[in-house]
Amino acid sequence: MKLSGKTVLIGISAGIAAYKTCYLVSHLVQEGAEVHVIMTPNARHFVDPLTFETLSGNRCISDTFDRDFEFDVKHVSLAKKADLFMVAPATADVLAKMACGICDDMLTTTFLAAGCLKYVAPAMNTGMYLNEITQKNIETLKGYGVNVIEPASGHLACGDVGAGKMPEPEQLFDIICGALAREQDLAGKSVLVTAGATQEAMDPVRFITNHSTGKMGAAIAKEAVERGASVTFVKAATTVPDPEGCKVVKAVSAAELLDEVMARSDSADIIIMAAAVADYRPKNVSSDKMKKKDGDLTIELERTADILAELGKKRADGKTPEGQFVCGFSMETKDLLENSRAKLDKKNCDMIVANNLKEEGAGFGHDTNKVTLITRDSAEELELMSKQDVARAIFDRILQH
Ligand code: CTP
Repeated sequence: MKLSGKTVLIGISAGIAAYKTCYLVSHLVQEGAEVHVIMTPNARHFVDPLTFETLSGNRCISDTFDRDFEFDVKHVSLAKKADLFMVAPATADVLAKMACGICDDMLTTTFLAAGCLKYVAPAMNTGMYLNEITQKNIETLKGYGVNVIEPASGHLACGDVGAGKMPEPEQLFDIICGALAREQDLAGKSVLVTAGATQEAMDPVRFITNHSTGKMGAAIAKEAVERGASVTFVKAATTVPDPEGCKVVKAVSAAELLDEVMARSDSADIIIMAAAVADYRPKNVSSDKMKKKDGDLTIELERTADILAELGKKRADGKTPEGQFVCGFSMETKDLLENSRAKLDKKNCDMIVANNLKEEGAGFGHDTNKVTLITRDSAEELELMSKQDVARAIFDRILQH
């Protein structure tokens, strides 16, 4: 049974597709999952809670103030227990509430409290689905790390034909199995990931930084967590939510990042330096706001420490744990292979993930990346793929090593 030992929460909002979710709950239970169903009060008009209670073997919850249950705070206890929470069908109304953090029923309250993997399967009339408001809410949820399942197109219950149909229960079941039944091939490993853009202060008001959003580093940390690793996420400035399930450590400048990485490097089996670290910082930092004067301003910059190179030096001195794997990134705009190979040698690491900022869909801010994985004896050019798939390929390659 693929899902034994796993707890799955299924949220049901008021859409006609709720009838399909009965099959999903039944499949999950047959595969050994412990399933709890939470319905919005209006969803009960479409399928009776008794159906889900019979299929799941658990009380179907929809009343936040139900006093007839064993004494624990239900939305908190379920949120803590869950390995995955899927809302299917997710109506426009429930998506809007979840995107804003509104908690006015048991479903939305538990959704906000839960820190597990989250999926929503939007299902509604095409006009409602394509409306800019719904699309913005979907983008917001994606930004918070919620996985949004693309609705199918076809004949809708309202008579329209178009996008907004909830995928078949078999498809939702496969998504849940794919997410939960992942091989725990990083179990017992300690992984340190850096991400984001460092900030080098000039004065209390200004700093020098770069365009990194931290998306790639966050995808790497998420992948490592899902494969069973114990993950420390050392982050400079990021614009994406912190990945769930990691120990998060904040560092603002290159100097702080150096300290945080070095303090933890000895206990890491795998270190991945995805942060975009400043190479220079202002030599003198003014303690007061620098006032403008007539004419140009010249700021003297000094080099920061190269953290990856420091790790490489430690290794050359035989001061790193046996078998530790160190992976750096390389961002270039030309001569990708040559420059990245030089970084691999100079910084004495095991692998460089190289990307060319000028390639379509690669680099800062995109959800995709196009990378070449460079080791001492190989260079594997990957296709354009999601950053999550790049993260998967990186760990597959590290484990082969
Ligand atoms: N890096 C680092 N410390 C720095 C600069 C970079 O640890 N002060 C790491 C990055 O996290 C990345 C790798 O070194 O893993 C390569 O970074 P990149 O910016 O591509 O190259 P640089 O070494 O800075 O060289 P250049 O800017 O000249 O390309």
